[in-house]
Amino acid sequence: MAIYSIRELPIEGKRVFIRVDFNVPINKQTGEVSDTTRIDAALPTIRHALERGARIILASHLGRPDGKPNPKYSMQPVGKVLSEKLPGVDILVADEPTGDGVTRLATDLKPNQILLLENLRFSPGEEGNDPGFSKELAALAEVYVNDAFGTAHRAHASTAGMVALFEEKGAGFLMMKEVEFFTKLLKDPEKPFVAILGGAKVADKVGVIRNLLELVNVIIIGGAMANTFLAARGKNMGASRVEADKFGLCKEIEEAARARGVQFLLPSDLVIADGLEATEVETVPVASGVPMTKMALDIGPDSRRAFAEALAGASTIFWNGPMGVFENPVLAQGTLAVAHAVADSSAVSVVGGGDSVAAINKAGVADKISHVSTGGGASLEMMEGRILPGVAALEK
Ligand code: 3PG
Repeated sequence: MAIYSIRELPIEGKRVFIRVDFNVPINKQTGEVSDTTRIDAALPTIRHALERGARIILASHLGRPDGKPNPKYSMQPVGKVLSEKLPGVDILVADEPTGDGVTRLATDLKPNQILLLENLRFSPGEEGNDPGFSKELAALAEVYVNDAFGTAHRAHASTAGMVALFEEKGAGFLMMKEVEFFTKLLKDPEKPFVAILGGAKVADKVGVIRNLLELVNVIIIGGAMANTFLAARGKNMGASRVEADKFGLCKEIEEAARARGVQFLLPSDLVIADGLEATEVETVPVASGVPMTKMALDIGPDSRRAFAEALAGASTIFWNGPMGVFENPVLAQGTLAVAHAVADSSAVSVVGGGDSVAAINKAGVADKISHVSTGGGASLEMMEGRILPGVAALEK
């Protein structure tokens, strides 16, 4: 798909609407942004536009306020971070996403000023991809840039509807980089390609697994999802979380992997405990089964070794999803071990999804990963082989 980069767009002195994904976590106590990764990731695009004398309108959603204004989801804390990250730049935070006041602010914008719109999802028009709302947003600017890879799987007014109203449109540096990495994985991955998937539900990952079976040499499954695959193989999983209605699907997937010669790796041992908040854990081999009252909540040391070995032999790695209950330190070891194994490999490595990225950061190995994606859902949909609406809308 041919897309203009912001570098190729005539933005000098123009009003440029930049859709960013500033859907960032807010600390409930302080009301401040607790992780600025997504803001940092958009800075190269913003700085480029500033250097070209563009008058910038930044727009994002934050959380899911359901089409109504809600101070809990205000962009104000994001504005504060931007002021700190961009010293000398005047950051104006609008008190609504559109309206007469916003239009006036946008019209009067000067170079070296940024107008940050209030949360787009304060209007029902955003998620409804409403033509009227799209028109109001589009009227604010002359050039459209999308740098919100994390939201590119949503066909909303700011990612799809308004884009069609622009002659001059393209992608920011973050969007370009994300799309390039995922396209490489999908179209031209160096083999052996090893994918490692975790997380809670088989249903959430089935599309990705099916598409990956066409691309990879090895697929590794961990997390609660692995419980369902193990139970489908007839293993005793005790009180573990298992999706009994997905056994047929699990068998079908394993059969499809066999038919394609894809190695399918499941945990061989499990960390078990009484519940998600446990402070004491034990390890059991899968072969012995999980006792009736216990839950499998992480992968065990043998599995960690086997998974690390498979990852060490890879030339390409895609990782999405935790191996266990990562929020609980006694159940985070499997996920952290995978983070280190991915970092230690010399493969082109792409990591997406909140917990996997958090594990990479916690392990302090982000600089050893080829690409840490800012998109969870978006990266998964891309790896399912789908064309993301936010990317499709940018086509030349
Ligand atoms: C994300 O965090 O995955 C994106 O910002 C999209 O958010 P959403 O799932 O609320 O649409």
